[in-house]
Amino acid sequence: MLVFQLMFVSLFLLQTTSSGSGRHSLWVLASSISGSTVFPEFNMVLKLDDIQVGYYDPTMDRVMRVGGGGEKGAELDLGQQGTSVLQDIIFNMRERLNWAKHNFNLTGVVVHQRLVGCEVLDRQPVFSMFREANNGQEVESFMYNMTDFTFTGINSWEMWLDWAKSTYVHKLWTKVYLPVCVQILQNLLDREKNLVMRRVRPRVRVLTKQVVGGARVTCLATDFYPRHINLTLLRDGRPVDEDELTGGSVLPNGNGLYQVGKTLTVDDEELRRKHSYTCAASHLSLDNRMEVSWRAEFSRSHRVPVVSVPVSVLLLVLLVVVVLWWRRRRARSDSVAMETQEEEAEDQDRAAAADPATCETTE
Ligand SMILES: *[C@@H]1O[C@H](CO)[C@@H](O)[C@H](O)[C@H]1NC(C)=O
Ligand SMILES: *[C@@H]1O[C@H](CO)[C@@H](O)[C@H](O)[C@H]1NC(C)=O
Ligand SMILES: *[C@@H]1O[C@H](CO)[C@@H](O)[C@H](O)[C@H]1NC(C)=O
Repeated sequence: MLVFQLMFVSLFLLQTTSSGSGRHSLWVLASSISGSTVFPEFNMVLKLDDIQVGYYDPTMDRVMRVGGGGEKGAELDLGQQGTSVLQDIIFNMRERLNWAKHNFNLTGVVVHQRLVGCEVLDRQPVFSMFREANNGQEVESFMYNMTDFTFTGINSWEMWLDWAKSTYVHKLWTKVYLPVCVQILQNLLDREKNLVMRRVRPRVRVLTKQVVGGARVTCLATDFYPRHINLTLLRDGRPVDEDELTGGSVLPNGNGLYQVGKTLTVDDEELRRKHSYTCAASHLSLDNRMEVSWRAEFSRSHRVPVVSVPVSVLLLVLLVVVVLWWRRRRARSDSVAMETQEEEAEDQDRAAAADPATCETTE
């Protein structure tokens, strides 16, 4: 339950954060918890695009730096205004948590979360947002896209909603918070250029797997950065309709890089037509589209080159083996040659079944 609640903000970020192409973001994710848990009473992280660059250290009461490799470092320099804005977030989060506890008579573990930050496009602010959740439920959100303020909220939090709608808050937001956010974002971008602007080329593969009644063809791209990628599966040079594909969500690779796969299920009839399947990736790290192809082979004919004898011969050999084995059981003599044959046949079969027809190449 608690873990689920804590995921509220991070899931949101996964969907919206985009880097590269001149668009960058700075998000502060904060949570305040009361009640007895293993989690710290107050927690805050700073994300530059999708990279964590800072975290709040309660013992120091400071925001510390996180390097690209995840190593912990010195204090993160946010400037005087930046530091006071973050102090203000900490204070205000505690205030709201206490308000909610008293107002709604909440007991036990209570989690209050906030997501606040801004986005720039070619160094100009384009978007800023504030979202707040209590015990996993969104209670208030506030967005500003440089022309309009948009609010949503639940009635019981009316007091804060009215506050957010006040002209005072609009002024504070446009004249103080947003400029401070953009300033911090630009400073961090300049400082962490190597991390944020890096381009890591995807490794692109076509994986095939035999399944009952056909095969699964997967177009897979792994270990790339930034997360934005266009991955297309082509059949004889024409894009396969997205409806025919499964997968396609870009996922973290666990090493700060991303991965994505799209799978097409191909039946025996289609395999017999021996189409060529191409996995095409376009990504910021690539000048040209990267393509990897695989030509379908129908499963039964597919086994022939591996075993390197016609199927009928193989079946005959198997039949002979079985007959001989049966006879051996009746008369346990001259068994050596037959056992060898039997093992060989089994090995070949296994090799044929396991052959994943993996292709891999570069541009
Ligand atoms: C509020 O909590 C107290 C216990 O602290 C309880 O006695 C009371 O019934 C609660 N009131 C409501 C409205 O839930
Ligand atoms: C900002 O949001 C409003 C309301 O949603 C919309 O009408 C307007 O076009 C948006 N402006 C920009 C610059 O995106
Ligand atoms: C992906 O495709 C879209 C639409 O065709 C295009 O605007 C975008 O630049 C492409 N992205 C990459 C990384 O190639």
